[in-house]
Amino acid sequence: MFKDNLLVTSAIIYANGPAHLGHFAGVYFPADVFVRYSKLKKRNVIHVSGSDEHGVPITFAAIREKTTPKEITDKYYELNKKAFEDFGICFDSFTRTSGEKNHKMAQEFFLNLLEKDALEEKSQKQLFCEHDKMFLSDRYVEGICHHCESEGARGDQCDACGRWIDPLLLKNPKCQLCGNEPVVKETSHFFLLLKKYQNEIEDWFETTDFKMNTKSFCKGLLKQGLEDRAITRDLDWGIPVPLETAKGKVLYVWFDAPIGYISGTQELCEKNKTDWEKWWKNPENTTLVHFLGKDNIIFHAILFPFMLFKQEKNYVLPSFIPASEYLNIGGEKFSKSKNRAIYLKDFALDFEPDTLRYVVARNLPDTKDTDFTLEDFQTKVNSELAGVIGNFVNRSLTFAHKYFEGKLPPLKNELSELDKEMETKILTLGEDVAVSYDNFSPREAVMKIFLFAKFCNLYFDYKEPWKTRKTDLEDCGTTIHFCLQAIQTLASVFAPIMPFTSEKVFKMLNTSFSNYDQTKKLALETGHKFNEAEILFAKIEDEQIENFTEKIGLKRS
Ligand code: MF3
Ligand code: ZN
Repeated sequence: MFKDNLLVTSAIIYANGPAHLGHFAGVYFPADVFVRYSKLKKRNVIHVSGSDEHGVPITFAAIREKTTPKEITDKYYELNKKAFEDFGICFDSFTRTSGEKNHKMAQEFFLNLLEKDALEEKSQKQLFCEHDKMFLSDRYVEGICHHCESEGARGDQCDACGRWIDPLLLKNPKCQLCGNEPVVKETSHFFLLLKKYQNEIEDWFETTDFKMNTKSFCKGLLKQGLEDRAITRDLDWGIPVPLETAKGKVLYVWFDAPIGYISGTQELCEKNKTDWEKWWKNPENTTLVHFLGKDNIIFHAILFPFMLFKQEKNYVLPSFIPASEYLNIGGEKFSKSKNRAIYLKDFALDFEPDTLRYVVARNLPDTKDTDFTLEDFQTKVNSELAGVIGNFVNRSLTFAHKYFEGKLPPLKNELSELDKEMETKILTLGEDVAVSYDNFSPREAVMKIFLFAKFCNLYFDYKEPWKTRKTDLEDCGTTIHFCLQAIQTLASVFAPIMPFTSEKVFKMLNTSFSNYDQTKKLALETGHKFNEAEILFAKIEDEQIENFTEKIGLKRS
């Protein structure tokens, strides 16, 4: 399924604001789980992502915050990098597209595509604001979508239907700086010749096996016929077009952003003194996986692959594109202006990272839009994490300390049916959950883990070790033996989802875990000595939720 080198990317995040729960649930968390799991499977994997620092999203934020694009990107690069770290998201490279390597690489791509006849300069009519004296590309202009009639469609894309916009067809266009209606003016830009090469794109697309949302969306686009796409802009922030004749023009942000995956890999390899081409120009041995939100599909499944294969025959093209749906907040779309926003930086101050990772995994928007509420978060932490998983770990370990000197008691010779069932479940859990990890579904994985933990508690209840301690010590020891083996397995299989908690468990068990295949056998030896038990998850009080809601000004559903 995966080749020797596993190259995983997460859509680089615009450095124009703080990362929120939607980013986390849609892209970075599922990618991190897959990468952590792959590392435990001893795969040769790297996770590349970073900060998307060009284009109108940035210049627009600079105007909003009355500062410069450079300051905006410096600020949000640091802020987002830290927010991801706080929640245990690990990157091998977290690059900045404004870096030197990305500038150089993007310019090379541009010149090369021009030489290969994949780019052409054409004059174009564009919206121009007479008041602000500038061309209104991308989110400088908004109006009503000419495909689906939704309001708030931007000059580049409509978020409601996901399609590309021809700004001249936008109904009721308004300059987002001054609110005036723009005029139409002529300028010239470089276009990616998607129309001319549609056949090549289609041929490649036919060889892929993307999941349904990506496949059907792209098939629809291809059926309609691709339009050429301008990849330069009249802006003063961005990567300059490397031609004397195009002074004052920069590359479109969506041209240089995905190239950031490559330049980020270059930076990493330079640091490690290894060869970046072994990742990117080695299709025989590399599997490329792009994690992203569904509004990014078109760029990763059509535009970027086209840029790559036109560039050079042996670039690696994506094999998997896990594209997420949206995580809503309290039943509505994330919105800063409507006070429907939860930022990671705020969440980190009040709650434990693994509690968010768990609840997000339970509610992952991988196949459909899902909803996040603080009430549901509280319920799941209290009843599932504290009530089921934490409780099982605590009662088993405490019991071993109290009655077996903190050591793993031996198994008796004749196991009951229930003991055997428990043993089988312990031994098969790892493989069962692995299937879900390999399918990019932490949601399915965590469900299997939770059900297993529930079973473990039932096993404990049913076997009544507090009674057999007095009547059948061997049977009591057997029960505790399996419970502790189960804890080791639980913490192993949930390590990709709750890395901080699993470390805590291994410390309590006085064990370690570094290879996922260790879950295939009972890992603990009879007589093994444990450390003291600690509480794994604190219950979340109503008051905490209320205080947090108030602090961040979240609107209640
Ligand atoms: N910053 C973009 C967004 O948030 C994603 C860029 S992904 C890349 O929608 F491919 F361009 F890198
Ligand atoms: Zn204006």
